[in-house]
Amino acid sequence: MAEKILVTAALPYANGPLHIGHLAGAYIPADVYVRYQRLKGSDVLFICGSDEHGVPITIRADRENVTPKEIVDRYHSLMKRSFERIGVAFDNYSRTSLPLHHKISQDFFLNLYRKGYVSEQSVQQYYCPTCKRFLPDRYIEGECPLCHKQEARGDQCESCGRWLEPDQLITPKCKICGSAPDFRTTKHWYFKLSEFQKRLEDWQSSKTDWKNNVREFCSGWFQEGLTDRPITRDIDWGIPVPLPDAEGKVLYVWFDAPIGYISSSVEWAQNQGKPERWRDYWLDPKTKLVHFIGKDNIVFHAIVWPATLMAHGDFILPAQIPANEFLNIEGRKISTSRNWAVWVDEYLDEFPPDPLRYCFEANAPESKDADFTWKDFQTRNNSELADVIGNLVNRCLSFVEKHFEAKVPSPGELCDADRAVFTAIAESINRIGSALEDFQVRRATAELMDLARLGNKYFNDAAPWTALKSDRTRCATILNTAIQLQAALAVLMEPFLPFSAEKLWRMLNAPGSHRNRRWHDISGLRLPDHHPLGKREILFSKIEDAVIEAQIAKLHA
Ligand code: 2FM
Ligand code: ZN
Repeated sequence: MAEKILVTAALPYANGPLHIGHLAGAYIPADVYVRYQRLKGSDVLFICGSDEHGVPITIRADRENVTPKEIVDRYHSLMKRSFERIGVAFDNYSRTSLPLHHKISQDFFLNLYRKGYVSEQSVQQYYCPTCKRFLPDRYIEGECPLCHKQEARGDQCESCGRWLEPDQLITPKCKICGSAPDFRTTKHWYFKLSEFQKRLEDWQSSKTDWKNNVREFCSGWFQEGLTDRPITRDIDWGIPVPLPDAEGKVLYVWFDAPIGYISSSVEWAQNQGKPERWRDYWLDPKTKLVHFIGKDNIVFHAIVWPATLMAHGDFILPAQIPANEFLNIEGRKISTSRNWAVWVDEYLDEFPPDPLRYCFEANAPESKDADFTWKDFQTRNNSELADVIGNLVNRCLSFVEKHFEAKVPSPGELCDADRAVFTAIAESINRIGSALEDFQVRRATAELMDLARLGNKYFNDAAPWTALKSDRTRCATILNTAIQLQAALAVLMEPFLPFSAEKLWRMLNAPGSHRNRRWHDISGLRLPDHHPLGKREILFSKIEDAVIEAQIAKLHA
């Protein structure tokens, strides 16, 4: 039976365009995994959407002096389009400002409230006397109590990464007007997270296949002891708290955002004309729920969200949470405010999608932060994609065009070297598959490239140009073997380099879509004798130094 897998990628805040840090951390790894699972024939649903609430949105709106709605409308469309252009193929990309999501989140809240997992508390919170408003976490800045950097946020210090409560900041200031806030009493609703510590620990103790970063992070939180957490805020942008005495209060964005995974699935089902279909995933204990995230989201996905799911009771719990580390650019932390970023759309205006995808696959920030440099991008494109895969394809297919009328040559008897190629294909399929089952995109990518390298070495050693003169059948056998290898490569490339995979499939004029092939059938894939090849194109163009230097200059500008 096909495995049923519900894959989510963190809902990005719709408060700015998509940059490459987003891609490397969550979206490319998720997309690779999903494309692989589709080839395997798994029943996969790939869900995402824009996170449109919370302080990240209102701060941007305040800064630009526009409404939060204008911000989310603008960036939702932009991000959705960027994902499409880079080939991240969600089944549904929703948005949390939809009435559907508001309703599902409010029902979720009420479910917890009625079960007694939500309690009202009076609390002292920072209030800005100038702006006349309560200041939720990110509206307050001050000195970090740990690393003493100024401009630590009320929820986290970006400099040392420490999670903070606003009252831990030294010399707090209102982010909008700079005034010193005072404390006033307000009321909020708290989720009784502390009650779930034991259940969470028991549940996680069976998750021995989780990544170390996630397990270690959680064990730190468990050691400190989980405390109840406010799930409402005093701002006027968000989902109204569905209680009679909650005027002006909204749900905390981190309460409603993960529920977005459910509402995006519901929206998907409605769009399919099968409005109940989402239940097949969310309510079936056989579904494997996989959350792809960046490391800054671990606590929410591995602790708070599972606890809210446990409290609710109807839905499945996450089976895996592949959390990636961060991507730096040219040795420095990405900073959108300082424009130290590479914007996905700007990249795509100048380059094709696959070379960038390849960079994050070959150098994925899996166990430590990774660095993107334009030089490395150029090297990977020129010396790996173009010189290894592109070269193999180009010299083999042009040879066949020239000497065999662009038709798959009919092979003679296979010798050991030819058989070794087919064995290598079968082994690579297994190794790439098992790496991807373990969420090791980096290792899988290296295996893919190694197979293409092996193809080049085979081609060199077998030297069809020499055989052509002495033994045409031998020459035909070599070319046939190399073509079958390329057919296998075209399918194997699909998770990593989907645009080039399609192009290669077309160049081979192979029937149907490579996407309809099955992973376990790849090694048996054979283009028949005399099968006419398609039009040859350049698979990967080399990138000149000047082009790269211009990008570096742009980054520094
Ligand atoms: O960190 C972020 O960008 C959040 N918007 C991620 C939300 S993930 C999920 F819970 F929706
Ligand atoms: Zn103020």
